Amino acid sequence: MSDKVQIEGMVFEAPEATGSVSGPSRAPRAVTPELVEDDLALDRSLRPRRLGDYLGQERIKEALAILIEAAQGRGDVVDHILFSGPPGLGKTTLASVVANELGTHIRVTSGPAIARTGDLAAILTNLEEGDVLFIDEIHRLNRMVEEVLYPALEDFELDIVVGQGPAARSIRLDLPRFTLVGATTRTGLLTGPLRDRFGVVFRLEYYTPEELAAIVRRSASILEVGVGQEGALEIARRSRGTPRLANRLLKRVRDWAQVRGDGAIDEDVAAEALGFFEVDSLGLDAMDNRLLEVLCVQFSGRPVGLSTLASALAEDPDTIEDVYEPYLIQQGLVMRTPKGRQATVRAFDHLGLRAPEGQ
Ligand SMILES: Nc1ncnc2c1ncn2[C@@H]1O[C@H](COP(=O)(O)OP(=O)(O)OP(=O)(O)O)[C@@H](O)[C@H]1O
Ligand SMILES: [Mg+2]
Repeated sequence: MSDKVQIEGMVFEAPEATGSVSGPSRAPRAVTPELVEDDLALDRSLRPRRLGDYLGQERIKEALAILIEAAQGRGDVVDHILFSGPPGLGKTTLASVVANELGTHIRVTSGPAIARTGDLAAILTNLEEGDVLFIDEIHRLNRMVEEVLYPALEDFELDIVVGQGPAARSIRLDLPRFTLVGATTRTGLLTGPLRDRFGVVFRLEYYTPEELAAIVRRSASILEVGVGQEGALEIARRSRGTPRLANRLLKRVRDWAQVRGDGAIDEDVAAEALGFFEVDSLGLDAMDNRLLEVLCVQFSGRPVGLSTLASALAEDPDTIEDVYEPYLIQQGLVMRTPKGRQATVRAFDHLGLRAPEGQ
């Protein structure tokens, strides 16, 4: 991944020295690293800060509001919270919303970043009373670090070993009371004991087109782009139920409208611009369509194992499982069978192909 910048669930390859951006068909090709930087800055401005700005996921918001108010009423810290769900649905955003609503600090880290127990001890001992500790990709914590985390979560205590060999002894430190907010795209990979230590587990669902349209309109007003309701809905329908993608597509449509049109975004402009960027009517991009093609054409609709599929696409199996597959399954285009991934009749229809007999 050294020459690639991964952002928003899409991979942009950095242009080679010659400026050529050829390679497997992945849209949009002309995105430079500078543009990606720009996108990152924009993302920060689009990220909702309070529960009131966070659109959709109504049940989760209501439950969070209750948890927060109840804990504050008791003068207690909020129970540890786990957010799970596919990338870009707003897990990290919710973690910072929780801290903002509580009026506390948020310390941000991730499972892979906490390599040794000493790293965790340093983080925990630097927390202040009531802080939110956010651990992204919490399913990737290593077991030794997890063991140290358990008593910290349960009793706000930290056992550390000082010295080495026969002189080593364990001492127990009191920690400030804090709230752990964990995020994961893969609840299945979380160990039972860690999962059990969360007071609440929220699973984020894909957003409806109407919810995404509201998000697009909110973002458009921050970016000062003119988007009508129909234009917003067109972008929303092609955003795979994902706010991150909705914002990203809005920015690409804005660019297109600015150069090819008069800057205003209605349904036709949105449809034409998204067609130009190879986002089809179901919101599938070039990679999704290649995945369907491999299943339908190369393997003629037979079940295909994940690793075989990954090598046929020259893609990492985890990325297929976390990023591409959930939406294709949700849309009824791909099935997970005991023998592997299989295209459905709908996938053949989507590609304009006839499904083999007996499918
Ligand atoms: N409910 C929402 N309302 C408005 N914007 C949202 C909402 N949820 C997410 N977003 C936008 O989508 C972007 C992606 O959200 P976020 O980074 O929180 O996703 P994530 O679930 O943490 O993804 P990942 O699994 O890749 O870490 C945010 O920058 C934010 O602008
Ligand atoms: Mg995140």
